[in-house]
Amino acid sequence: MIEVKNLVRMFQSGERTIKPVNNVSFELAQGTFASIVGKSGSGKSTLLSLLGALDKPTSGDVVVDGVSLAGMPDGKLTEYRRRDIGFVFQQFNLIPNLTALDNVMLPMEFAGVRRSIRTQRAKELLEQVQLDVDRHDRRINRLSGGEQQRVAIARALANEPKLILADEPTGNLDEQTGGHIIELLNSLRREHNTTILVVTHDRSLANKTDRRFRLQQGRLTEETAPKQTQGTAAAGTAAVAAAATVG
Ligand SMILES: Nc1ncnc2c1ncn2[C@@H]1O[C@H](COP(=O)(O)OP(=O)(O)OP(=O)(O)O)[C@@H](O)[C@H]1O
Ligand SMILES: [Mg+2]
Repeated sequence: MIEVKNLVRMFQSGERTIKPVNNVSFELAQGTFASIVGKSGSGKSTLLSLLGALDKPTSGDVVVDGVSLAGMPDGKLTEYRRRDIGFVFQQFNLIPNLTALDNVMLPMEFAGVRRSIRTQRAKELLEQVQLDVDRHDRRINRLSGGEQQRVAIARALANEPKLILADEPTGNLDEQTGGHIIELLNSLRREHNTTILVVTHDRSLANKTDRRFRLQQGRLTEETAPKQTQGTAAAGTAAVAAAATVG
């Protein structure tokens, strides 16, 4: 269970103060597949960074299984990030001069997993995200954007995190590959009760999630339309109009 309580992130830019996360509150039960949509600059990546303890809020708190991140010393926050969170960055943040396989093995190395097991598991993960075997030993800077995206997803899954935070995980993928990634995330949720929160512009992805949120200028609302509505433009607008204020 993740509880987000009155979360605020403020930035100072010259004379101006901006609040890309402006009093956001919501709860996600373990095993929920949720999505956040919103315009560019609405605060989506900023919010994910706070949930993944990559950034600290100006005020408010994130409570994970009863433990407050605000009260956690830095060492414990690092442990939380490494053990409990799988983060798929919008810009991937892979290590460019390491191979795909080495990038996926790295979080397992930090977690103290034996080399033989690391290698085996990394290969399996790269197969699960459908990266061709002849790309496994290629350096990241020689892979396409979509290939890098799949490596980033495999890396996020490496330590079987309780919570996956994925920023536009299908943004660089064709429809079929994107559909496969959504299926993969869904199967993790089914088999391991993983909580998954994706930021996406992809309507077909958002429509498949249990809960759908929208961020507008730092304010979060939840769409209340039933799951799996076949998203016509009109239905989408109605869903937004019916959105209940959560934050
Ligand atoms: N470290 C920072 N310092 C100052 N301003 C920041 C910082 N990080 C983000 N911002 C600002 O906060 C706002 C929200 O940024 P954010 O990256 O969260 O948007 P986003 O919803 O993820 O957008 P996109 O869809 O383009 O990825 C933007 O106006 C951005 O310029
Ligand atoms: Mg972003």
